[in-house]
Amino acid sequence: MSDSATIGVFDSGLGGLTVLSAIHEALPSENTVYLGDTARVPYGGRSPSTIVQFALQNAHALAKKNDLKALVVACNTVSSVAMPALRESLNLPIIGTIEPTVQALTRFPDARSITILATKATVSSGAYERALRQAGFAGDIYAKACPLFVPITEEGITRGPIAEQVVAHYLVGLPKTDIVILGCTHYPTLLPLLERALTPRLGFLHSGKEIASVLKYTLATHGTLKLESTKRGRDRYFVTDSPCRFEQISEFFLGRPVPSAHVEQITVTD
Ligand code: DGL
Repeated sequence: MSDSATIGVFDSGLGGLTVLSAIHEALPSENTVYLGDTARVPYGGRSPSTIVQFALQNAHALAKKNDLKALVVACNTVSSVAMPALRESLNLPIIGTIEPTVQALTRFPDARSITILATKATVSSGAYERALRQAGFAGDIYAKACPLFVPITEEGITRGPIAEQVVAHYLVGLPKTDIVILGCTHYPTLLPLLERALTPRLGFLHSGKEIASVLKYTLATHGTLKLESTKRGRDRYFVTDSPCRFEQISEFFLGRPVPSAHVEQITVTD
């Protein structure tokens, strides 16, 4: 596998673009390919077996179309239930969201209580709690599923009265904790509203930067990290539904527009 191979990134929809944005920032000369399963988003209310099936289809579609040197699962819902199946079926370094986010807690040795905001599937998997306990965290852990956060952000509704009401619906009355983990890659787009609704003593943690630094380390240890250059890497985008909506909304998540020539609709179920 050469250093010019591509980093594959996938999510159920557009949320994983918040992770891709951090990857572009940390590793600007790497080539990336992103897959958003926009025809089947959201995943968060589905059963673990369906999520595993979708995850394998997405990963195989990306691996079939590209020379991948690593795969980033930019979806907490998939990372909560499908990592063993993905690692068993693909011979690639695969990075999920949960371990890098939990590792980042070492920056907050004083943290005694944590709230996890995530999808229903992530909350009921207990994956964050397990990873936090394994990492030695002995404090209080609260988890809250916020299922409407994904559909509203996929519609580009991240501020204004609708978004404010949805945020209040889930967050009013939650206990104040030291850290809030944004356990879904769609949620960073709601950060200004979340910061008004919850005021964690030490701060919010979301996966983007943490995943990018674990990815950089992983590529370096596999000898596939691209040497820094002034030439930006190539970025391509696949979606499973019409590219039209992706082109309109992706900027909210990625922080910059995606030229329509870079977006292609594909099928992942062949
Ligand atoms: N962005 C995803 C996550 O991090 C998926 C949300 C969904 O499809 O429900 O969990």
